[in-house]
Amino acid sequence: MTLGCLSPYRRLGVGTVMVEHVLRHVEKDGNYDNVYLHVQVNNTGAIDFYKKFGFEIHETKKHYYKRIEPADAHVLQKNLRPPSLTNGIISHNDRHHQEKINHDKNHHHNQHNEKHHNERNSHHHDKRNSDK
Ligand SMILES: CC(C)(COP(=O)(O)OP(=O)(O)OC[C@H]1O[C@@H](n2cnc3c(N)ncnc32)[C@H](O)[C@@H]1OP(=O)(O)O)[C@@H](O)C(=O)NCCC(=O)NCCS
Repeated sequence: MTLGCLSPYRRLGVGTVMVEHVLRHVEKDGNYDNVYLHVQVNNTGAIDFYKKFGFEIHETKKHYYKRIEPADAHVLQKNLRPPSLTNGIISHNDRHHQEKINHDKNHHHNQHNEKHHNERNSHHHDKRNSDK
């Protein structure tokens, strides 16, 4: 999924409505531990925007984009259920949580490969936005 708002309509709360819709959906579902997204490293406006909803830079992937510059992407993550650590020891529940995160990461990785498969269209969109 690509999230974007036409430039004349930015800073009017449209992006907030879209992100809150997604967050409400996953929170209501109850089966999601994290939400991830990719953003070009130079897209400071979008990064500031996502940080308002509790997303943090989780990692940076080199050469993530194939047809746009800069090619590097930050992975932004919002934890929906942060693991609670007691004295640095991970409880059984937290270990289960960590396993779920790893599972989600693998799932995300598969989606990532799928994304590259469908890259042409989404990059057309990204390119249009990055030209603005
Ligand atoms: C990122 C994007 C979706 C934000 O949508 P939007 O409708 O403009 O966002 P909102 O009006 O809901 O903004 C909410 C708050 O986020 C922050 N914010 C939004 N855009 C920002 C920007 N360019 N710079 C700094 N802060 C920003 C502000 O705090 C803003 O509140 P304010 O306007 O009261 O100051 C929009 O700028 C966009 O479509 N950009 C191009 C496509 C893109 O980069 N998509 C993300 C790719 S992962």
